[in-house]
This record gives sequence, structure tokens and C-alpha cells, in this order.
Amino acid sequence: MTFYGYAMIQITNLQKTFNRGKANQVNAVNGIDLNINSGEFVVILGSNGSGKSTLLNLISGSIIPSAGTINIDGHDVTKLADYRRSKWIARVFQNPMSGTASELSILDNFRLAAIRTKTKGLNIGVTEAFRRNVKEKIAMLGMGLENKIEQPIGTLSGGQRQALTLLMSVMDECKILLLDEPTAALDPKSAEIVINIADKLTTEFRLTTILITHNLKDAYNYGTRVIQMGQGQILKDIDFEHKKKLKQTDLFEWFG
Ligand SMILES: Nc1ncnc2c1ncn2[C@@H]1O[C@H](COP(=O)(O)OP(=O)(O)OP(=O)(O)O)[C@@H](O)[C@H]1O
Ligand SMILES: [Mg+2]
Repeated sequence: MTFYGYAMIQITNLQKTFNRGKANQVNAVNGIDLNINSGEFVVILGSNGSGKSTLLNLISGSIIPSAGTINIDGHDVTKLADYRRSKWIARVFQNPMSGTASELSILDNFRLAAIRTKTKGLNIGVTEAFRRNVKEKIAMLGMGLENKIEQPIGTLSGGQRQALTLLMSVMDECKILLLDEPTAALDPKSAEIVINIADKLTTEFRLTTILITHNLKDAYNYGTRVIQMGQGQILKDIDFEHKKKLKQTDLFEWFG
């Protein structure tokens, strides 16, 4: 059964403390309650060290909370190892180099990604149908990369690579897309293209997306909801109705 788009993230009293009991103790996530409905595109803003990445790491399972619960689609995943949720959760990081294998071709990178997310059937990716599917999906990006699928991915620009990483990460049965400053290392034009692709993929694959950014313009132009974090807590939560009525200057006033 395919679950496209029916993810719902339910977070209750989530806490993550690092270095507990030591002088350098940090309550990185400090009592967060948050419900995210399927198909929402949530943009998270907040100053450095406010706990944004920690929250994403808790959702993906790369770290386990000190207290509280996380439910995905009604399943309690609070203590589930990350590789047991990775089938549903796609992540893209700041560094365009981190999501892919440089020396391998675009096509081989897609094969690897397919293998990673499939529970069975390692023969995935060697068929002509797979190749066609990859080319078709890459064409969707509108960057002309569908004609370069035999080229090592390391020869592409950071923006091209980040766009492919995004696409790769959502091609299988993923429901949730977690983006931690995916455009921070890109020039403004490439950043715009990549964020646009993230938006397109969210709609196309009916994903539930969380984007961390320091870019207020993106927070204004994209997403269905804006959350501000500060000191491990949610300071502001602006839903779709209110976001629609916002002016860009409001955001600058609040978050700038
Ligand atoms: N593994 C860790 N060990 C110890 N402290 C950590 C760890 N990870 C994060 N922290 C601390 O937790 C706090 C929140 O960090 P986090 O990375 O979540 O912030 P952020 O909002 O993503 O910041 P930025 O905008 O700079 O990326 C910071 O004080 C950070 O130093
Ligand atoms: Mg961060």
C-alpha cells in the first residue's frame, strides 16, 4: 500500500537535553507540542541554536528524545531507529555534497536511493523502466539534466545537485520531506530554483514538508504555515489563513 500524502506528525511535550547534569547542559528542545497535518508545508524560522535542527533530528530518528512522544500516521515512532522510519522520511541537508555519491553517475545515485528505501527487491533500478522513470522525473525539474544521467553527479553545480537530491529523496514511498537549510550553500538564483522544486515536489507527491530556513522571503513566498522557534520552544505558529493575510514586512518585523 502506498501512503503518499497521508502523513500526520503528532508531537507531544517533546524534549531533548544534551549533556544532562553537566555544566554545558542544553535543553535544545524544551517542551514542544505540535501537530502537522498531511500535505502541510511548514516553514520553521528561528535564530541560531533555537533547536530547529534538533527538532528535525528527533522527527527523523537520528536522535531519540529525552521525553515526550512522536507519532507518525498514528504510529508511535518515539523510540524507533532512524533506519526503520527512513522509508517514509526523506531528508535534505545544507551541504549539496552530503546526499549523493560524487563519483557515481546521476542514474546510479538514483539506483542507490531506490535500494535504500526499498525493503525488498534489490533488483530495483537495473531495468529499462527504472531508467525511463528516472529520466521522466528529472525532466520535471526543467533543468535539462535528463540528458546527463550517465554523468558523475560530482560534476554538477551545487544547485543542480541539490535539486536532484531533493527529487531522489522523494521518488519512493516517502511521505515526509525534511529540509534543513537546503539552500544555505547556494547562490540566490540556484536557491530560488531549489526551493521552487521543493514546493513543486510537495504538491506533486502530496508530501508533508518541513523546511528550516533563515530566508524570510522564502518563508513568505512558500509553505502553508510558519513556525518560529526560540530556546527550544515554539514562539509563534501562523496557520494558512493567517499566513495568507501576512505582509512581508510583518515577517521582517517579527523575525528580522
Ligand atoms: N549533539 C549535540 N550535543 C550537544 N549539544 C547539541 C547537540 N546538538 C545540538 N546541540 C545544542 O542544542 C542547541 C540547539 O541546536 P540546533 O542545532 O537544534 O539549533 P538550530 O536552531 O538548528 O541552529 P542553526 O540555525 O544554527 O542551525 C544548541 O545550543 C546546540 O549547541
Ligand atoms: Mg540547524
